[in-house]
Amino acid sequence: MLAVVTGGDRGIGKAIAKMLVMDGYKVVFTYKQNEEKAKETFKELKNYGDVEFYKLDVTDWLQISKFFDNIGEKYKAIKVLVNNAGVIGKESTISKITIDDWKNVIDVNLTGAFYCCKFAIPYLIKGKGCIINISSIAGKMGGTVGCHYAASKAGIIGLTFALASELAPYGIRVNAVAPGPVDTDLLSPEIKEKLKELCPLKRIAKPEEIAHAVKFLIENEYVTGEVIDVNGGRYMD
Ligand SMILES: NC(=O)c1ccc[n+]([C@@H]2O[C@H](COP(=O)([O-])OP(=O)(O)OC[C@H]3O[C@@H](n4cnc5c(N)ncnc54)[C@H](OP(=O)(O)O)[C@@H]3O)[C@@H](O)[C@H]2O)c1
Repeated sequence: MLAVVTGGDRGIGKAIAKMLVMDGYKVVFTYKQNEEKAKETFKELKNYGDVEFYKLDVTDWLQISKFFDNIGEKYKAIKVLVNNAGVIGKESTISKITIDDWKNVIDVNLTGAFYCCKFAIPYLIKGKGCIINISSIAGKMGGTVGCHYAASKAGIIGLTFALASELAPYGIRVNAVAPGPVDTDLLSPEIKEKLKELCPLKRIAKPEEIAHAVKFLIENEYVTGEVIDVNGGRYMD
């Protein structure tokens, strides 16, 4: 059973990759540039089972197409695809967000997930697999890191709904997780501190708590077209 996790060398992606390998999946995780981290994560995860890693830029459709054909040929079918790779922009207000920054955030967070879904489909059909997209509370509430990030994560929710409907006849389920702030490198210590105070539970999430929601979405075969919020009760405020 093959599971693919984009951006799996660190943060939430690493927690998901670790959970999957411990659950007995053959895990292929990708990274973009942090080779040292990818090697370190590989070393750690191989203690638990079968794991491989590849360098992949999710903004490059040709690379993605080759990547999925390569692993598809090798393993024939994909059971789980987790579109996790993501970035925040350099600035957070519309007056300061540059055109390039807007394009980069949309390209990585939204178009990258679309490319991965598109090129993984033949192998997901063979595996009767499922897709889990990592959205964000920002995709539902706007958030604090900028309109480019919020738009990309709202787009992920639309992508999830549309593909859940389109791919259900092929036996493929498509769901998303919308985390609140999580303790990874994505957010600065100052932003984490600020966001902690906004949460009724007065803490941000551990990456493993997001992986846990991904596990539920993989295992419950009657859930599709769903977005699970994991945000410490943020909507109650
Ligand atoms: N942390 C949060 O508070 C939070 C909250 C809600 C949603 N999320 C979402 O959760 C996902 C994971 O976030 P995280 O917090 O774990 O972030 P992170 O620790 O910054 O890790 C980001 C991952 O994405 C990879 N990546 C970045 N640009 C890429 C590209 N162009 N092509 C392929 N991979 C790329 C990175 O690879 P390298 O290591 O090689 O750079 C890394 O593996 C993201 O989609 C993020 O938007 C995070």
